[in-house]
Amino acid sequence: MRVKIIGSAAGGGFPQWNCNYRLSRAARSGTAGVHSRTQSSIAASADGTGWVLFNASPDIRQQIAQTPELQPADDAPLRSTPIRAVVLTNADVDHIAGLLSLRERQPFAIYATAQVLATLEANSIFNVLDPQIVPRRLLTPTEELAIRDADGRETGVVVESFPVPGKIALYLEQRDDPGADFSSDTGDTIGVRITGAGSRGAVFYIPGCARIDAALRARLVDAACLLFDGTLFTDDEMIIARVGPKTGARMGHIAMSGEAGSIAGLADVKIGRRVFVHINNTNPVLDENSAEHAAVKAAGWEVASDGMEMEF
Ligand code: MLT
Ligand code: MN
Repeated sequence: MRVKIIGSAAGGGFPQWNCNYRLSRAARSGTAGVHSRTQSSIAASADGTGWVLFNASPDIRQQIAQTPELQPADDAPLRSTPIRAVVLTNADVDHIAGLLSLRERQPFAIYATAQVLATLEANSIFNVLDPQIVPRRLLTPTEELAIRDADGRETGVVVESFPVPGKIALYLEQRDDPGADFSSDTGDTIGVRITGAGSRGAVFYIPGCARIDAALRARLVDAACLLFDGTLFTDDEMIIARVGPKTGARMGHIAMSGEAGSIAGLADVKIGRRVFVHINNTNPVLDENSAEHAAVKAAGWEVASDGMEMEF
């Protein structure tokens, strides 16, 4: 099983179009150790030919352009793609907007939970992907499912989805709802366990997660690799950076650091490789020369960059 991180930044990307914070400025000016990143997505292949995307980011055109494996093969038909299916982990803009760039009557399959399928259904712009050509299929947590292409042929990639603590997409939030829970595990956000024919272990992809609970810790034991929500280093980071009023908790994203953070919460769980993805443009780990980057590495974590590839 090959897994490629094709987009390692959170929503907005890095640098974000309107961001003038020091990290975005450093990325723009080419500062050593500060690399640009596209928005949140990975690709997996069991046979090295067909690929399953996990999330379709607004940067998908650029991601395909910088990933030869996702481009039409030399001997393929005049219109073709090695992308066989797209699995969605929630309905956030950074995870579904790229579907709109995959129009052109090209067959592939979409897999998503009932909630996310309902969001696609409710927004008629997604009808640019004619369901007769691009079938929409239900992901039922926590069943194991063989991912198939539009014609029903197995890709060799097998997925088990499971709810994680998180929240509904920002644009679906009810304004001023006093009962809103930003760390519920009602299935608005899922994680996926990816395996496949001949794979030596399971890869977990969890780009959004509000909290580490006992169920998640138990699920991750013996994972070959964990690709996990690395949005923020500290919960109040966006407030301190003066770019916005929200904490990580309010956004449904656990911080890396602190007693309630992901590094501490997963420290004693046996995991082969642990890699932060979905990194926000305020996160100091984006600077490879920062103390925070060094701290994350010292704790046994890697910080994903675009194009990072692993084999299991
Ligand atoms: C998130 O991960 O919280 C969302 O992608 C935020 C957004 O919609 O920009
Ligand atoms: Mn996001």
